[in-house]
Amino acid sequence: MSAFVRREGILHAEGVSLAEIAERFGTPCWVYSRHALEEALDEFQSELVGIEALVCYAVKANSNLAVLDVLARRGAGFDIVSGGELRRVLAAGADPRRIVFSGVGKSAGEMELALRVGILCFNVESAAELDRLDAVACEVGKVASISLRVNPDVDARTHPYVSTGLKENKFGVAYEDALPLYRRASSLSNLRVSGIDCHIGSQLLESAPFVEALDKVLLLVDRLAAEGIALEHIDLGGGLGIRYRDEAPPTVRDYLRPILARLRGRRLHVLLEPGRRLVGNAGVLLTRVEYLKPGDVKNFAIVDAAMNDLARPALYGSWHDIVPVVRRQGPVRPWEIVGPVCESGDFLGRGRDLALAAGDLLAIMSAGAYSMSMSSNYNSRPRAAELMVDGNQAHLVRRRETVEELYALENRLP
Ligand code: LLP
Repeated sequence: MSAFVRREGILHAEGVSLAEIAERFGTPCWVYSRHALEEALDEFQSELVGIEALVCYAVKANSNLAVLDVLARRGAGFDIVSGGELRRVLAAGADPRRIVFSGVGKSAGEMELALRVGILCFNVESAAELDRLDAVACEVGKVASISLRVNPDVDARTHPYVSTGLKENKFGVAYEDALPLYRRASSLSNLRVSGIDCHIGSQLLESAPFVEALDKVLLLVDRLAAEGIALEHIDLGGGLGIRYRDEAPPTVRDYLRPILARLRGRRLHVLLEPGRRLVGNAGVLLTRVEYLKPGDVKNFAIVDAAMNDLARPALYGSWHDIVPVVRRQGPVRPWEIVGPVCESGDFLGRGRDLALAAGDLLAIMSAGAYSMSMSSNYNSRPRAAELMVDGNQAHLVRRRETVEELYALENRLP
């Protein structure tokens, strides 16, 4: 059930009215629901009861410490892609033994930090990275557990920018290179071959591509076993989509059923790296209409949030539902919901049929994933505040940036 519901005409996050949040904390701001986060994680974990499995939340989707904390307390592990994310996750109190490190460009410094704190596994994405990791592990006097991220060359049938499992993508090692690379990895003395990994894309709306990828990966697992390289875990990445508009993504149960059926009896630990599915529908961006600018060709509603806050519509043409916090009577018109940033691409929604007046509050829905985490300071706009609602309480989990902070690291010439 959605944590964002209308009560007495006012949109609420759990027990707190969004109008009250806007009053107290100002707009624009992000509002997350603790309950929605927990429920989304539970949906995975309840399917995995009795199975050696770990849900490693993909931190890039939303890296606020409070979000990480809520998920860590409920037993989530983490999938990180930088030293920055590693330090965030540790700051949130996560157990390093539940962290996997993905990404094509890990620096030696990042590897060293991850080795020192003792993460669970490095998802290695190239031959060159394998050599670097072995060398860094040797210097630090540690053994690095690794899996190879294999590119299974399957079509995830999603937006090309978020499709990652095709040969033409930069991610992972080519399928046919995997066996020789595993042989090489098992000969390197500071590496311990522990698993295999794949991630084929994001916002997938069917389970078939996951299953296709898994079948290919399992072929490799069997070939490796025949050569005496026994893997302990299989990491199936993230990618399960959510409903933004009218999509009908599979339930977690339907997504996992064919996967778990294929893994039955194999004694492989299962890792998953969901990002969007855990946080996407657990957050909204709350914004206020500054001006209405009706016109002959288009009607513009200029709001106080912009593409620097939520880049997805401008970047991918993504749809986010936009709903008034309080519905008003009056003529409905199609509005271009745009921000104050000086770019024609600065839109949050196009042609939305709404009855609007200046000063109205709007909630931009499904803004928990790849939203604040992809925000910028373009046009010297301070990043918006983040709130986490827990029952009847709204907690400020990141205060609004100040303009002084934006240029605090800069110097004028002497
Ligand atoms: N694991 C790896 C290695 C990944 O690269 C990603 C996402 C995930 C897990 C989590 O995927 P998810 O479960 O969230 O689909 N900015 C884009 C999405 C980029 C996804 C990047 N990788 C967007 O706003 O749609």
